[in-house]
Amino acid sequence: MEVRKAVLPVAGWGTRFLPATKAMPKEMFPIIDKPVIQFIVEECLDAGIENIIFVTGRHKRPIEHHFDINTDLEKHLESCGKTELLKNIMEISRLINPIYIRQKEQLGLGHAVLVAEPVVGYEPFIVCLGDVILKDEENVLSRMMEVYKRFGKSVIAVFEVEEKDVSKYGIINGRYIEKDIYIIDDLVEKPKVEEAPSRLAIVGRYLFTPRIFEKLKITPPGKGGEIQLTDAIKLLLEEEAVYAIKIDSKVYDTGTPMGYIQTILDFALQREDLRDGLIKYIKSLIIETSEV
Ligand code: G1P
Repeated sequence: MEVRKAVLPVAGWGTRFLPATKAMPKEMFPIIDKPVIQFIVEECLDAGIENIIFVTGRHKRPIEHHFDINTDLEKHLESCGKTELLKNIMEISRLINPIYIRQKEQLGLGHAVLVAEPVVGYEPFIVCLGDVILKDEENVLSRMMEVYKRFGKSVIAVFEVEEKDVSKYGIINGRYIEKDIYIIDDLVEKPKVEEAPSRLAIVGRYLFTPRIFEKLKITPPGKGGEIQLTDAIKLLLEEEAVYAIKIDSKVYDTGTPMGYIQTILDFALQREDLRDGLIKYIKSLIIETSEV
């Protein structure tokens, strides 16, 4: 069955960014001039997925406005001849079919995915976390869809992290099948370093068979008292195979202040209009700090 839908859980509080996230979703934070969530939506579109199911919560209205058609703004840009900007603004809202569902209670990532069940129905679907941007020559979702076509089972993208970072992620224990493809034997959410079965961390891109919903319904609260997606995948493993695809993409975790700053710097350094000025500024800062 073809993969046609992506679920983007975006209901989190964004506590690490308070007070900025009191009324503004962290997914709308700009990476210079594009909100984080737009990068993820573009990744879905690149992979041919236009039905985007946002699982939202309180204070997430700006996301709805962002993907809506803003005729006033379009008229304004047209009247002042800003055609490039106009094209940019028009494109994204016309290319996707956004669907919004409220997660009434924040019971965890697993619960957020389960909330999307009535819209997803009984078909395979993608889940993309709303604060992880991937940069790769090849679209990771497309690669995952290829693996799904071959095996007909769920596929999870993983990347190698340093040992000290394993406790920040879901970690898999997988058996190597062929280049970059593993079959998962076990997985654990945010293990202690000494308990981690590997350094292969779940990156925030999943492709599920609809059976995951059955498992989410019976997943008890886990780490942090939340219904964890990782725990539901573990239950799924008892019934059907789950594959992992190891990616070498650059992973930007915009969900922490440090990750957010690094993402902005990296993207700015790749822009011709900003690069030279930024390098000059960073150099001046380094000189200043070395003089202290
Ligand atoms: C979530 C998942 C975790 C995954 C991570 C990737 O954790 O629960 O398995 O490795 O995203 O960013 P969170 O970062 O939301 O706590």
